[in-house]
Amino acid sequence: MTARILSGKDIAKDIRAELKVEIEELKEKHGITPGLAVALVGEDPASQVYVGAKVKACKNLGVRSIEERLPADTSEEALLDLIAKWNEDPDVHGILVQLPLPKHIDEEKILLSIRPDKDVDGFHPTNVGKMLIGKPDFLPCTPHGCQQILMRSDIETEGKHVVVVGRSNIVGKPVAAILVQKSKGANATVTICHTRTKNMEEITRQADILIAAAGVPKVIKADMIKEGAVVIDVGVHRIGKTPSGKDKLCGDVDFDEVKEKASAITPVPGGVGPMTITMLMMNTVRSAKMRIEK
Ligand code: GUN
Repeated sequence: MTARILSGKDIAKDIRAELKVEIEELKEKHGITPGLAVALVGEDPASQVYVGAKVKACKNLGVRSIEERLPADTSEEALLDLIAKWNEDPDVHGILVQLPLPKHIDEEKILLSIRPDKDVDGFHPTNVGKMLIGKPDFLPCTPHGCQQILMRSDIETEGKHVVVVGRSNIVGKPVAAILVQKSKGANATVTICHTRTKNMEEITRQADILIAAAGVPKVIKADMIKEGAVVIDVGVHRIGKTPSGKDKLCGDVDFDEVKEKASAITPVPGGVGPMTITMLMMNTVRSAKMRIEK
């Protein structure tokens, strides 16, 4: 069997078209232009690419973006001051601080300082808690993107065994929390595997849906999955350059071999990546709408 390719790129395009209509309506009926403020501290090349892509997505959709690129030696206090300013600015509906932060800045302190009702990344403990009890305001973007790919590809999750490989706060733990909820697009039986899991292959081979968020290039091999499984690859790794000079990417899944055994698989690039940014746009629009309802 050769797997169906789940194009996050195409699904993201559909969702962005829906968002564009909502944004125009917000502007026309309520005079509100959704606004996203993004802070990047330091020169991490991957973060620069991500922030660039986020700002570009704003431009394409008609979301106002404010971009602050700060030097690596920016103090924690200066970053807290910037966030405090954005917290108070009524034209800023979403605040995002790109991670990772330089070592001298306390990440937890920074995330806690963002007003939960502007936390479009969904990383503030208030939003993590709301997600866990099934009453979310903002779902974290990458996990929500994984769920949207499954839902919009008509892949049933109810009663299915979802195995997540990876337990990060950004992907592994929240994607498990989302898919276990008693709700549409969820109701799965979820197992999380991690670096201390024994006999991981025995568990991954039980997965109807495998979500790879291990952060290790091509670690998921064909012999680790069940014939016909659905595979969602969250990994992004730069593995050199293409002949045209672009970054060559791969995921956590050994795509070439796994695609011959899976029934459906997300590619890298063009899978989960474009969904993450689209979910960020969705959260920013949601935040702007929350302002009208108040
Ligand atoms: N770094 C890697 N992924 C993310 C993300 O989704 N949001 C932020 N703010 N930083 C990240």
